[in-house]
Amino acid sequence: MDTNDYILVEGFKHIRYQQKKYEEKEMIDRSKEYYDWLDKRRSVRHFSDKPVPIEVIENIIKSASTAPSGANKQPWTFCVIENPEIKKKIRIAAEKEEQKSYNERMSDEWLEDLKHLGTDANKPFLETAPYLIAVFKRQFEYGENEEKHKNYYVNESVGLACGFLISAIHNAGLVTLTHTPSPMRFLEKILNRPDNERAFLLLPVGYVAEKSYVPDIQRKTLELVMDLY
Ligand SMILES: Cc1cc2nc3c(=O)[nH]c(=O)nc-3n(C[C@H](O)[C@H](O)[C@H](O)COP(=O)(O)O)c2cc1C
Repeated sequence: MDTNDYILVEGFKHIRYQQKKYEEKEMIDRSKEYYDWLDKRRSVRHFSDKPVPIEVIENIIKSASTAPSGANKQPWTFCVIENPEIKKKIRIAAEKEEQKSYNERMSDEWLEDLKHLGTDANKPFLETAPYLIAVFKRQFEYGENEEKHKNYYVNESVGLACGFLISAIHNAGLVTLTHTPSPMRFLEKILNRPDNERAFLLLPVGYVAEKSYVPDIQRKTLELVMDLY
């Protein structure tokens, strides 16, 4: 076996990678513990306004940014909003879109499917939570001379990064809501984003409110989500 620190593959440096391995029993225990911990995560709609150190948010975003991405293009930007005036602008614009969605855009079936979640067009948490993270997908990149460079599997990549982001938030003892007040073009305007970026998700982040309730919903059983061949 090659024990060099690195090798060259077609002239490109590949560094040696080793992963810590566990005995089977420990592996089973660890995977079960991780599942039990992740199973406790819930989407929360009632936030405390208690401040959160920015370093925590930075670490959460660094964690999200470790996600795999098509051709390693890392086609994401995480905009962190703590400024109360900008949060207010976002709340007003989001509620405007949500009003339209609830009153005009959503089908009866969709509204019926949402009923048990107890949601409506009011989004006070967009002002209460100490931070909002607006995630943007980068459709393409501009080169030095403004020429366009492709990104690949942008939706899959940014979706994965958001999954990492949400579990990092859970790990820090904070809560979030995967929020999609669509269409979300207002985020591009309010945050003055470049034209290669499209709003992907809006996530309030903070401590759970003292009195917070979540819908009593069930996750599908393993039998329903896994087929073994
Ligand atoms: C892509 C996506 C968009 C969502 N958009 C909203 C939203 O706009 N508003 C909301 O209250 N919840 C939203 N949710 C949260 C879901 O309702 C929630 O994840 C689901 O009910 C399961 O609950 P849990 O996250 O507590 O397990 C969204 C979730 C996803 C994955």
